[in-house]
Amino acid sequence: MTQSSTLLADYVLTEMARPDGPAGPGSGLPLNRRLYEALRRAMLEGRLSAGDRLPSSRELAQDLHLSRNTVVAALEQLGAEGYLVSRVGSGTYVHEQLPHAGMGARPRAHAGTTRLPGLSGRGRVLVERYGACALEIQPFTPGPADFSAFPVALWQRLQNRHWRNARPEMLDYTTSGGYGPLRRAVADYLRVSRSVRLDPEQVLITTGTQQSLELCAQLLADAGDAVWIEDPAYWGAIKALTACGLQLQPVPVDGDGVDPAAASGTAPRLIYVTPSHQYPSGVVMPLVRRQALLAAAARANAWILEDDYDSEFRFDGAPIASLSGLDDDGRVCYLGTFSKVLYPGLKLGYLVAPRALVDAFRQAHYDLYRPGQLPLQAALAEFIEMGHFAAALRRTRQTYAARRAQLLQALEPLLHTGQVQLTGAAQGLHLCLRLPLSVDDRAIAEQLAAEGISVRPLSAYCLQRRDLRGLLIGYGYAQPQLIEPCARRIVAVVQQALR
Ligand SMILES: Cc1ncc(COP(=O)(O)O)c(C=O)c1O
Repeated sequence: MTQSSTLLADYVLTEMARPDGPAGPGSGLPLNRRLYEALRRAMLEGRLSAGDRLPSSRELAQDLHLSRNTVVAALEQLGAEGYLVSRVGSGTYVHEQLPHAGMGARPRAHAGTTRLPGLSGRGRVLVERYGACALEIQPFTPGPADFSAFPVALWQRLQNRHWRNARPEMLDYTTSGGYGPLRRAVADYLRVSRSVRLDPEQVLITTGTQQSLELCAQLLADAGDAVWIEDPAYWGAIKALTACGLQLQPVPVDGDGVDPAAASGTAPRLIYVTPSHQYPSGVVMPLVRRQALLAAAARANAWILEDDYDSEFRFDGAPIASLSGLDDDGRVCYLGTFSKVLYPGLKLGYLVAPRALVDAFRQAHYDLYRPGQLPLQAALAEFIEMGHFAAALRRTRQTYAARRAQLLQALEPLLHTGQVQLTGAAQGLHLCLRLPLSVDDRAIAEQLAAEGISVRPLSAYCLQRRDLRGLLIGYGYAQPQLIEPCARRIVAVVQQALR
């Protein structure tokens, strides 16, 4: 049904006039955000229903006495968050499945938070969007590594030593972006293994990728600035960038990764990418596309945030150098994590800050987060210097290569159907089975979740596009004895769905 522009406008104007309402003048938000909030409420309260066609931006602008740019910005943000969908030549529609209506394969304890009156608009987006699995360590959750093999006794010895000798300054905050020897060890590793061009001064030790993203977003963009985000995208990045008030502009991923030529909308201030193993699809960005992306960033004068989360694990073909290594302009911020090679609860990652902004990054890191944990960082530096990190890498690479091979073999029957395509198996800790559009990947994921198998639906990672179906299957934490029987269940459930 097409919504009457005047009826909708009446509702929106009332919402925008309520002095202390979330879309009201007292909210302190710019006009486009107030309009966004009013339209979102119209959908959540059922005044706009799934499938309704919205009036054109021109009509809305006229009826609301707002500029067309303001209306377009609000509609784009609602599109980026999955509330609206545009059909070329036909118009803008309320999405059939609104984002709050159960995006995930797992039941969420907080489903229906729209009724929680205390949450901000941003807060609602944060808790309602697809996010982490409630239980990460069951077969085949994509993401986690097998940290059950982490050398705990050795780690404890190293930590004890650093605690025994802890001088008072080791118990203080750190103003230099982290423990010096750890920053140097990370710089050496990145130079050799990932072809990153950097000085150790550029390395900041963070509490992981989320904090690195947040720090970059806080320092390099203002609230309301546009950020290109891969479509489909990593939920963690969506959340961190949303929390910083950025306007997400989904850019479709094709067989070569994110395609800058397919981007539309305002020029981005930031570009978030996972070029070496696109999360979730697993696509690897070839050199030509990397150069196109760097050129697009240069034209827009944008910063690139390169999330290189699992490049340590490459199984087929030559290692791929980082995007940062190709960057002559100094516009790539490189983000890495120890969550995969060591363990996620360690909460240590690193950020290579732009050379010219190192002092600003250190100061903001200190002012925003009061970073510390120097004895922990010292133990990790020693762990790396003594060769334990390299050993852990060698050991885990072998483990995951074997699990990946086992999984691929068990999935063979699906790969012969001609209807299922395998992507992203050359690297990392997960692969992606692409399924035909006719298949409901969320229903498959739900069915398997009920059996304790936690694959994730590819469509749930999509922001704007509706043309992707598939399953993400992680083999990092999958215990060898469970791979075959669990994969057999995946094969059976998918085969049934394909019939
Ligand atoms: C795309 C992506 N980036 C980064 C990370 C790691 O994040 P963190 O350092 O916050 O553990 C993950 C973890 O699964 C990931 O999938």
